[in-house]
Amino acid sequence: MSLEFSADAQKKIAAMCERYSVSGSKQPVVMAALHLAQKEHGHLSDDALRLVARTLDLPYAHVYGVATFYTMYRREPAGRTTIRMCTNISCMLRGGYDVLAAFEQKLGVKHGDSTPDGKLHLVEEECIAACANAPCAVVGTKYYLDITTDQVGRIIDELKTSPRPESEVV
Ligand code: FES
Repeated sequence: MSLEFSADAQKKIAAMCERYSVSGSKQPVVMAALHLAQKEHGHLSDDALRLVARTLDLPYAHVYGVATFYTMYRREPAGRTTIRMCTNISCMLRGGYDVLAAFEQKLGVKHGDSTPDGKLHLVEEECIAACANAPCAVVGTKYYLDITTDQVGRIIDELKTSPRPESEVV
């Protein structure tokens, strides 16, 4: 059975197509539609990519290319809250890998994996545009600036009692 968008998502996509289409092409809406597909279906399976391609009248290869380029799109099921630890140059120079290792140790998983209860997913991230406060991480929708290894335990303990939602684009 092929996947579908909810009525609410269909309405949002139609409104974005109306506003952002260029010369009849719905290509400018592809990233927002991928976010909605991921939100509604948990991750971007081949069926979810086909849904986006079909909805926007775009080639599957184009949608696949976008979905596999950006790290915020998940091709596999993941934990409910994603912890994105930046290890790009500024963060790397200021201890980003130490903080990433602290997250791995506290969670008991390597980056790229989710905890066995499916609640938390750890990602090694490229620059998250907060270099002035390196090292930093994004947990769900919240930025942690100048993060230290000492903070990791408290962040995880808080998440276990109140998970943070993933960001919403639309
Ligand atoms: S390098 Fe980490 S936020 Fe830019």
